[in-house]
This record gives sequence, structure tokens and C-alpha cells, in this order.
Amino acid sequence: MVYGYGGWKSNFTLAQMTDLRSKVAIVTGSNSGVGKETARQLALHGANVHLACRNPKKAEDAAKDIQSSLDSKEPHSEEGDPKSGPKYPGGSVHADQAVDLSDVRAVQNYAENFKKGNDRLDILICNAAIVPPEFTKGKAPELEVAFVTSHLSHMLMIDQFLPLLQSTARKQQEETGKSDVRVVIVAADVTGYVDNRLLNPMKVSEEWLLNDIAEKKETYGAGAYLRTKICNVLFTRKLAQKLGDPKDNGVRVNVIHPGVISTEIFHSRSHADNSEDSKPGLGERLVRKAFNSNLVSMPPPKGAWNSLYAACAAEVQEKNYQGEYFFPWGNRRTPDICKIGKDDSVAQKLWEFSTRQLREATGNEDAVKNLDNVGAYTAQHSTQPQAATQ
Ligand SMILES: NC(=O)c1ccc[n+]([C@@H]2O[C@H](COP(=O)([O-])OP(=O)(O)OC[C@H]3O[C@@H](n4cnc5c(N)ncnc54)[C@H](OP(=O)(O)O)[C@@H]3O)[C@@H](O)[C@H]2O)c1
Repeated sequence: MVYGYGGWKSNFTLAQMTDLRSKVAIVTGSNSGVGKETARQLALHGANVHLACRNPKKAEDAAKDIQSSLDSKEPHSEEGDPKSGPKYPGGSVHADQAVDLSDVRAVQNYAENFKKGNDRLDILICNAAIVPPEFTKGKAPELEVAFVTSHLSHMLMIDQFLPLLQSTARKQQEETGKSDVRVVIVAADVTGYVDNRLLNPMKVSEEWLLNDIAEKKETYGAGAYLRTKICNVLFTRKLAQKLGDPKDNGVRVNVIHPGVISTEIFHSRSHADNSEDSKPGLGERLVRKAFNSNLVSMPPPKGAWNSLYAACAAEVQEKNYQGEYFFPWGNRRTPDICKIGKDDSVAQKLWEFSTRQLREATGNEDAVKNLDNVGAYTAQHSTQPQAATQ
């Protein structure tokens, strides 16, 4: 393993996962790769997990596969072996509703329908992403598709679920005397290498991050992907600042890099179907082979570990981590984030730009009102004992 953290320090194994019985979780982009293995482990630890995917057939297939783990009589494996059985019984998996994250209006529908059928949400994992092979626009807004899918839609999803997340925190408080509601944003490696022109040929700047998107410059592939992943980190930073201490507002948000994992991410299609014109060419197939070799990458079950750490390791609550970046498993690497990823003024501009885009694309001035008002909510509730975390 060249880059697979072979000799690196790991601060997490699945043995540290907490009992998730009665908890409800959503994992976006969970029909494959990191998301599917994350969903599997949440269910094997007792959670009721919803797969939020764009392609219903793929979601159903993933749910069946996870269900076979839930039904397995094999002893639970702390290595994440998909064939092993549950650690805590009672978990479930649901592929009941599709959501295309390239369309932020679909996110609103998804959240509305979910809230009709569920009175709690304990864990939200914003995992879906795409590396578009050519310049592609999202359906709404018509901006670069990776940005819409992985950043804008997740921002709106968090906004739409914020009241439910906060009421779940209060419910947990009543049930167990403490609350532990978590949002996890899955980013990528955005550490100092991004600032190094030898290691990263892309000219990373505020202009590249925001103006190029606004002006619809035709970026795609690794450039569009890296930009969106920096947006994930900046958004988490700003959201954590707005939320404040989870002990007051009930919601904890952190961002992770899963590691280099052999999945389809660097060969993802822009479309949910498998149409001929979206099949990879020879060059792409060779890159795929190299990337997926275990010399370079690790298998998907390991790719889930960092998300699982942020979603349910006790340490995250004990150390009261909020707005931190973890990479690899359970190691806090926030100080190592590249310069732009730590720039509060860029984070603020991204927030304002994203808010405008979400308002316009949904035709709703109140589109992100929960996120905008979160400070007021915290001020209102922080003195009330039922809103306290511990
Ligand atoms: N693999 C790595 O080495 C690596 C490294 C750093 C970060 N990550 C991050 O890990 C996360 C998971 O990626 P992965 O590696 O597991 O790749 P993956 O298997 O390709 O998973 C990506 C998921 O996102 C979904 N998705 C794409 N567009 C969507 C849309 N419009 N609406 C809803 N879902 C959509 C995909 O669904 P479809 O199957 O329908 O396309 C798929 O389920 C991503 O955030 C990625 O950036 C991965």
C-alpha cells in the first residue's frame, strides 16, 4: 500500500462503535463504496439506516446486500467483513426513497417525505459525490454538477433536517440523560499538499473556488472534485461556528477524509443510468485498474471507518469535537488543512454564495432559514436544561 496508511497511526477500530439501537441514520450515496459500507456498519450496530440514493434499483440492491449481513449468523467482525453478522440486534435498512442530489429541489421533497415517516434523525452522513468526466451542469441550480451534488444539496439537506436533528437531541436527552446527534461531511484529502505547486498543479485561489463556479467556467474531473471537497471543509467550518457548542445546540458536525479507497469515485458517471455514452473509455479503464489496485488503495469496508468514527465513536463526544477534520481514522488533522480551507473570509463568501443559489434554485427566500437562524435557536434554547448535551 503506497498511500493506504499502512504504517500510519490509526485511532479507531470498529470495536469503538457505540450501541446505535433505536437510532435513525441517513447516508447519502450509499448504494456503493464508502457509503454502502458505512450504512452496513451502522445497521450492524443497531441503527435504522436509510439509503439516500439517486438510482432506486441500485439502492434496493445495496439494501438487499446489507440485509444479508443483518440476517447473517456469523459472529460480528471488527474488521468490517460484510459477511459477518450484527453486533447489536435490531438494526434495519431502508431504500424507500430516491433523491437526485444534482437537483436541490429533489432534496426538499426528500426531506419533507422523510419527516412525514420519521420522528427522529440521530445521524446524517453527507457522503455522495461525483468526479464528472466532462463538464456537466446540475439540474438545479445549473452550476457545475460536483458542486451541486456534494456541496449545495448537502447544505440544503442539513438545513431541512436541522429542526428534526435538534428535536432528536432533546429526545435523546429525555431518554438517556444525554444527547449525541451527529452530522458527518465526507470530504477528501485537502491537507497542505493542495498549497504545493509541485504536488498540486491546480491554481487554488478564491477566484477558482467561487468566481469560476459563478461564471460557469467549464471545469470537470479532478479539478471540479477538489474544489467541491474544499467547499465541504469550508462549509463544515462555517456551520460549526454557527452551531456553536453541541452542548448548547444539540448538533455536532465534523468532516473527514476516508482514505484512498478502491471505489468507482474517480470514474463516476454524470448520469444515474448506465447508458452506453456513459461507459468508460480505454484510458479511463486503465486508470481505474491502477487506482483500484491494493498497492494504492484500501477496500471499501476500511473506507467507512473514518465516517463511523465521526458518526459514533464515544471519543468525539468526550472531546467535544465540533467542526474538526479527521484523516485517517480518528486523527484530528484540522491544523493541516490547506490555506484556503481554513480561510474564514472564503468560508463566509461560500456560505453567502451558496445561500443565494439555494434561494434562487428553490424559488424560496426561506430556503436556508434554519441554518440562518441557528444562532438565534441556540440562544433561545441554551439555558434550557433539556437542550443541553450532557
Ligand atoms: N474513494 C476514495 O479514494 C475517496 C477519497 C477521498 C474521498 N472520498 C469520498 O468518499 C465519498 C464516497 O465515495 P466513494 O469513494 O465511495 O465512491 P462511489 O462508490 O462512487 O460513491 C459515490 C456515491 O455518490 C452517489 N452519487 C453521485 N451522484 C449522485 C447524485 N446526483 N445523487 C445522489 N447520489 C449521487 C453515487 O451514486 P451512483 O452509483 O448512482 O453514481 C454513489 O452512491 C465521496 O464523498 C468521496 O468524495 C473517496
